[in-house]
Amino acid sequence: MLWVAFLLVASGLIFHDGLASASEQSGSSDWQQTHNFNKERKLALTEQAPIPLRCSVTKGSWCTKFLIQEPITWKPAPRGNKECPDNCNNVGRCNYDTGYCDCPAGWRGPGCKTRQKRPCTTRQRAPEDHSPDPISSIGPDKRDTDWTDLSHIYSRCGGVCDDDTAICYCDGPMGRIPAPEDSPPGTAPARRGRPLITYHMAPKTTWDGRKAFGDVEYDFVYGPKGYCNVTKPEWVAVCGLDDLGGPTCDDPVEAFCPGACSGHGTCNLGFCICDEGYYGHDCARRKAGLPLQPSTLPTKPWLASVLHEPPAALEPPPKATRKRPLIYVYDLEPLYQSKLLQYRVSPTWCVFRRHEYPNNHTTWTDVWVYAADTLVHEFLLISEHRTFDPEEADYFYVPHYASCLPFPIGVWADYPWFKGPGGPRVRQMVNMLLETVDWINTTYPYWQRRGGKDHIFLFTHDEGACWAPNVVNNSIWLTHWGRMDVNHTSNTAFVSDRYDEDYKSWQQPEGFLTHIKGHPCYNPEKDLIIPAFKRPEHYRLSPLVSANARPRDNLFFFRGDVGKGRLAMYSRGVRQKIYKMAKEGGWAAKYKFYIGDGSDVQGDYSDMLSRSTFCLVAAGDGWSARLEDAVLHGCIPVIICDNVHVVFESILDIDSFAVRIPEADTGRILEILQAIPERKVRAKQAHLGHAWHRFRYSSLPGLASELWGMMENSLKEIPLSPAANNSSPTPDVVFPRPFKGDPAVDDAFATIVQWLYSRIPHTR
Ligand SMILES: *[C@@H]1O[C@H](CO)[C@@H](O)[C@H](O)[C@H]1NC(C)=O
Ligand SMILES: *[C@@H]1O[C@H](CO)[C@@H](O)[C@H](O)[C@H]1NC(C)=O
Ligand SMILES: *[C@@H]1O[C@H](CO)[C@@H](O)[C@H](O)[C@H]1NC(C)=O
Ligand SMILES: *[C@@H]1O[C@H](CO)[C@@H](O)[C@H](O)[C@H]1NC(C)=O
Ligand SMILES: *[C@@H]1O[C@H](CO)[C@@H](O)[C@H](O)[C@H]1NC(C)=O
Ligand SMILES: *[C@@H]1O[C@H](CO)[C@@H](O)[C@H](O)[C@H]1NC(C)=O
Repeated sequence: MLWVAFLLVASGLIFHDGLASASEQSGSSDWQQTHNFNKERKLALTEQAPIPLRCSVTKGSWCTKFLIQEPITWKPAPRGNKECPDNCNNVGRCNYDTGYCDCPAGWRGPGCKTRQKRPCTTRQRAPEDHSPDPISSIGPDKRDTDWTDLSHIYSRCGGVCDDDTAICYCDGPMGRIPAPEDSPPGTAPARRGRPLITYHMAPKTTWDGRKAFGDVEYDFVYGPKGYCNVTKPEWVAVCGLDDLGGPTCDDPVEAFCPGACSGHGTCNLGFCICDEGYYGHDCARRKAGLPLQPSTLPTKPWLASVLHEPPAALEPPPKATRKRPLIYVYDLEPLYQSKLLQYRVSPTWCVFRRHEYPNNHTTWTDVWVYAADTLVHEFLLISEHRTFDPEEADYFYVPHYASCLPFPIGVWADYPWFKGPGGPRVRQMVNMLLETVDWINTTYPYWQRRGGKDHIFLFTHDEGACWAPNVVNNSIWLTHWGRMDVNHTSNTAFVSDRYDEDYKSWQQPEGFLTHIKGHPCYNPEKDLIIPAFKRPEHYRLSPLVSANARPRDNLFFFRGDVGKGRLAMYSRGVRQKIYKMAKEGGWAAKYKFYIGDGSDVQGDYSDMLSRSTFCLVAAGDGWSARLEDAVLHGCIPVIICDNVHVVFESILDIDSFAVRIPEADTGRILEILQAIPERKVRAKQAHLGHAWHRFRYSSLPGLASELWGMMENSLKEIPLSPAANNSSPTPDVVFPRPFKGDPAVDDAFATIVQWLYSRIPHTR
């Protein structure tokens, strides 16, 4: 252990000295000597880079510990052989570890023998309603019973309803033909039909001109050239389904399934239907005694570029050894994960990866601000740290998609409910997680073994894990929101998300607050604040990925919601206050201090961040991902959010590259920033350049290759850079220097995994 200590000391010394002296040289003659406008780093960040470089700007020993660990041998994956009853009724997927059936939308219960309808409807049930079945507004023919009833929620259908999923399709020649009523379970519809999603796409009159619930002209949908009547309509509905695209929404598109079913199954809107003898939620597992089959991923270019089969599934293993931590990803009951994807309408929501017509071209989406849910899940599925053997696992990952539940699932139809309807949206998430833990505890022995300490939950909600149920108290929480006060009250200005007003009903007479009260939103000892997902495109102009550094000529930048017309508690009042001061004081013209929304501050967002020295990080509706924006663009974060940790604050030396201002001093922001000496600014920028890569998710194969491409393109562009032709470049462009190295090394995923390794002893 002695040399571990030595390394740590060495890393501290080398790095602090190195950066400090470098920062002091800015503007000196040393610069001009650097030939060829060479702003490059000497050492690239690769797996082989020296430990001090790899662990620079980290706090504690987690980074070094991970890097110097003794790898362990790779064991072949265990395989299950417990048969399920009756082939899971021809609808479900057998889990050969447990002998239980995983059921897709439309089915539930042991053996997937019970129907679970989700009909299209005009309304959701009232909390006092005791009926066991979801409310429906469709008849036995799956058509709405009365178009002239004008009440509606999203699933209201102007065509033929798929009452397994509450998804609406056309009626008529291009419409849906359900399977005959008496056909065996699992029979596909005779014709799927064109989607006609939500009341927004339904006709606003009946065929004979009476007012109806929908939003569009009757003839657009059912006229002589109507979308539902002819192949080439003159109006086309918004497609709205993840697996359909093209000009008339008739063409198949690759839908999102975590890990794309490993190339051993078919993706049904989020639920994997595995090939014979494959099992698990991503079809990565192989039933005992059967030979492995080649994965189809390499045969589909759009998947081959972004995914591979999980290393844990390969026999023989891909390498002789692997590093810990070993993480077991639960094959969760579909209702808490894949069924939510099946129920969702609007493909950009709930996911981080999508494929688009015509070539299934991959797009990353960060429109869904909670994209880390599916992202971290998919990363773990194909990570070398995944194990199929719970007995050797250091950790258990629970891939619940609770953040997807309130919207776009909860308000859509009259199912699912967790302990009945009513109360704030958070109540549904709390109750779903309570059920999830209960399910884990009754299905596997591993929850009891260590009281949940070695289980990992991700919370991507605006108020992070503030509302986490107490039953997961001991588990590791990965979250975006690092609020640390114990007596926290809900601080969202979005009223239906508040978690501090109780709600009691006949299904939950004790209320839900008793299940969540008493813990802080985050405990720096056992939890970790992790970055939100920003796709590479989001920071394409950052000088860190592009060699085309422009001068940082703006003192300060923030563009976003500055609380105009919001409740006062929005952003804890911080954005509003600075906005007001800046506007009244004319700071934009006087100091190049920019704050406001799109109407106040123009310019390309990535460009503006790249050209600013300081960038604001203040609360939004609870959490906000502005720290990521600042750091990814090499802009020094100015954090104004008391008692809240920003991303990785417990494990990185944030103070070395950020400025923190107490909320009480918000009024002095200009004075404070102006008083920071130039060499301190340079030092912070230099440190930022040595930490920023940990804030991006870039080790998934598709993300890494996109970043490689961006780096190469920007190198080609160097001669065109105005700075490149400048005989005396300003020191402003020096720091942080462009990144040099492998984007897949020490990114956000790696940081999480490396930190988890150091936590193993604390979970025993
Ligand atoms: C379009 O299809 C609907 C449903 O089958 C039918 O009622 C309607 O008459 C058709 N419209 C035309 C103009 O053919
Ligand atoms: C896109 O993916 C879907 C689903 O895998 C497939 O059916 C379709 O043929 C693909 N499209 C192209 C152009 O390859
Ligand atoms: C887990 O199950 C055991 C016994 O089956 C029970 O005693 C315990 O309370 C359960 N724990 C949770 C968190 O549900
Ligand atoms: C939290 O509130 C309770 C009751 O209001 C009080 O007893 C306790 O001291 C408070 N704790 C902290 C850390 O403020
Ligand atoms: C979780 O923590 C809170 C506060 O520390 C405590 O009141 C509660 O009893 C704990 N619950 C469990 C199940 O450990
Ligand atoms: C540099 O500037 C000179 C003079 O303004 C110009 O002739 C030359 O084309 C520029 N070179 C590049 C690479 O932009």
